[in-house]
Amino acid sequence: MIKIAPSILASDFSRLGEEISSVERAGADMIHIDVMDGHFVPNITIGPPVLKSLRKVTNLPFDVHLMIENPEQYIKSFIDAGANILSVHVENNPHIHRTIEMIKDCGGRASVVLNPATPLSMLEIVLDKIDMVLLMTVDPGFGGQQYIEGMTKKVRELRGIVTKRGLKLDIEVDGGIDLENIYEVTKAGANVIVAGSTIFHAPDVTEIIRSLRQKAYGGYV
Ligand code: DX5
Ligand code: ZN
Repeated sequence: MIKIAPSILASDFSRLGEEISSVERAGADMIHIDVMDGHFVPNITIGPPVLKSLRKVTNLPFDVHLMIENPEQYIKSFIDAGANILSVHVENNPHIHRTIEMIKDCGGRASVVLNPATPLSMLEIVLDKIDMVLLMTVDPGFGGQQYIEGMTKKVRELRGIVTKRGLKLDIEVDGGIDLENIYEVTKAGANVIVAGSTIFHAPDVTEIIRSLRQKAYGGYV
């Protein structure tokens, strides 16, 4: 089952509520929210108060991608504000196991994120404790970047490990996904697809989400 998660980073922030409603009407499965602190990544976006307001406009799950230092400090605030899935990076977090437990204790679904250069071996001790792995397919910080080709192999390898171990785990990809490469990543084993500029810069969001889904299953648009 493939899920499409529009990243609101590429939306018009002056009309955030309307933008979310429009992708919900267009059939999005969840809303991907990029939280950046200007330290872990060179960009600053939004925090819990904005999530709390947005929670009123949709029932879709909030898939919150934390690109921040000290994520543990903010987990409860994000879940209280309405986050459903929290993705935490391993690169700046030597206590990832504890962070995952915190997310679950707060009632959230836990996901771990790897930057393109971070090896899959970093997931070893947590793989059977999480709901999702988010594989970055660009270096995080900005929307509209180009998909890094070598990432398809990483997706395939991870899906192989997950299948071999009999785990039920979503594999999400994030960065540079478009109509040209979506089938490449779903064929490799990704089942949650983030798309920012491809969706929000398209002339018709209903049409683009329909086309992405169709392509994701290997169909022609
Ligand atoms: C990048 C963010 C992505 C970004 C994706 O740091 O994590 O979610 O919004 O945007 P596109 O799909 O435009 O590459
Ligand atoms: Zn993201």
